[in-house]
Amino acid sequence: MAKKVYVGMAADLLHEGHMNIISEARKLGDVVIGLLTDKAIASYKRLPLLTYEQRKKVIENVVGVTDVIPQDTLDYVPNLLAVRPDYVVHGDDWKTGVQSKVRQRVVEALARWGGELVEPKYTEGISSTKLINTIRSRGTTPDVRRGLLKRLIQSKPIIRILETHNGLTGLIIEKTKITSDDGYVRDFDGMWLSSLTHSASKGKPDIQYVDITSIAQTVGEIFEVCAKPMIVDLDNGGLIEHFVFAIRNLERLGVSAVIVEDKIGPKRNSLFGTDVEQTQDTIENFCDKIRAGKSAQVSNDFMIMARIESLVLGVGLEDALMRARAYIIAGADGIMIHSKAKDPQEIINFCQSYAKFEKKAPLVVVPSSYSQITEEELAAAGVNVVIYANQLLRSAYPAMANTAKSILEHHRAYEADQHCMPIKEIITLIPEPNFINGASVPVAPNIPNTVIPQYVDK
Ligand code: SPV
Ligand code: MG
Repeated sequence: MAKKVYVGMAADLLHEGHMNIISEARKLGDVVIGLLTDKAIASYKRLPLLTYEQRKKVIENVVGVTDVIPQDTLDYVPNLLAVRPDYVVHGDDWKTGVQSKVRQRVVEALARWGGELVEPKYTEGISSTKLINTIRSRGTTPDVRRGLLKRLIQSKPIIRILETHNGLTGLIIEKTKITSDDGYVRDFDGMWLSSLTHSASKGKPDIQYVDITSIAQTVGEIFEVCAKPMIVDLDNGGLIEHFVFAIRNLERLGVSAVIVEDKIGPKRNSLFGTDVEQTQDTIENFCDKIRAGKSAQVSNDFMIMARIESLVLGVGLEDALMRARAYIIAGADGIMIHSKAKDPQEIINFCQSYAKFEKKAPLVVVPSSYSQITEEELAAAGVNVVIYANQLLRSAYPAMANTAKSILEHHRAYEADQHCMPIKEIITLIPEPNFINGASVPVAPNIPNTVIPQYVDK
């Protein structure tokens, strides 16, 4: 009987490195590919370019592959116990970095039945990560970008979204990442076009004055330089007659989701709470708005999420839960439950009741006033999306205002310089386009890996 050979791989963009591994593996027996699912890949790095189904179609047609099964975790052990292969084949590059612990567990598991780990030399000079980064840096298409949010929600315990209001903040979200000691990469999954910070960055109050034309223009500006998915804050969506056009407009651009709040009349920021007059919409009217939006959208992956203001307006948990049920039945693709309390308890209470719903939609929260809560705590409560809704502008504005003040106080800029990034860094922060054979390549490929300068206080 042929020996069983197990090969775990993401197989996102196949190249000769993968072919070398498969051809080595098939010399040993029948090759079973443990194809990493989106969830497995998202547990340690960004989502793959291609979905699991797309990757499966390719890899199962590669010569030498006998079978393809899903590998749902970075850890091989569950699949190894099921398959009990005679061999596992993997390039020798995993002896260090994020995969070294995974490798150790493979060695231990194989020892139980006398299996063997075979590690052909890693093919130098080619790597999927390099290829993928090159493709990503060329940008994306509206269809691919739009679908990312749903895939991310399905693939990760919680996804983290940060506020943007222009190209530069979009780039910060695109590029900022940290790598933990054991090699896990942590970055933001996407962007929130906040009505608060978008309005403020234009010197306007957050009263739904910055209109859809302006929103669409900013979306375009951000999408030109970033490939991550975006959720747009559509305030209360305006008149239903206008809302349906806004949906089409943003969907066409490649926005993944909009969030609309169940308020009517002159819009005021939620964080005012009951200090200003704010009126909640009726459940019936708001459901009509959701239904109208859902029937206006063209693609399957665009999401319309309903934002519940009951806690903000002090009408209580029961009202919030009743609305959540109704909005989901009306077709909402997600529920954002907002709170301006300093204590996360009212959000946790909502989450606990929500968890018991029979029909649920992804749950979104915005911990601005209760910022002490961690992503782990929110995920444990059943939250799917956390939005950091205003922190970039809130940190940038005081820095700029202080610099302006310092110049006034000292009659010169010298004292402010210590808080500013060096001139040579600002002039190269956004590099000029490359010219290849005389043709200009868009700027995105050259954006440095991090746009955040390291300030040294003198
Ligand atoms: C925004 O970021 O504009 C929001 C969230 O809508 S909040 O400001 O808390 O209302
Ligand atoms: Mg807003």
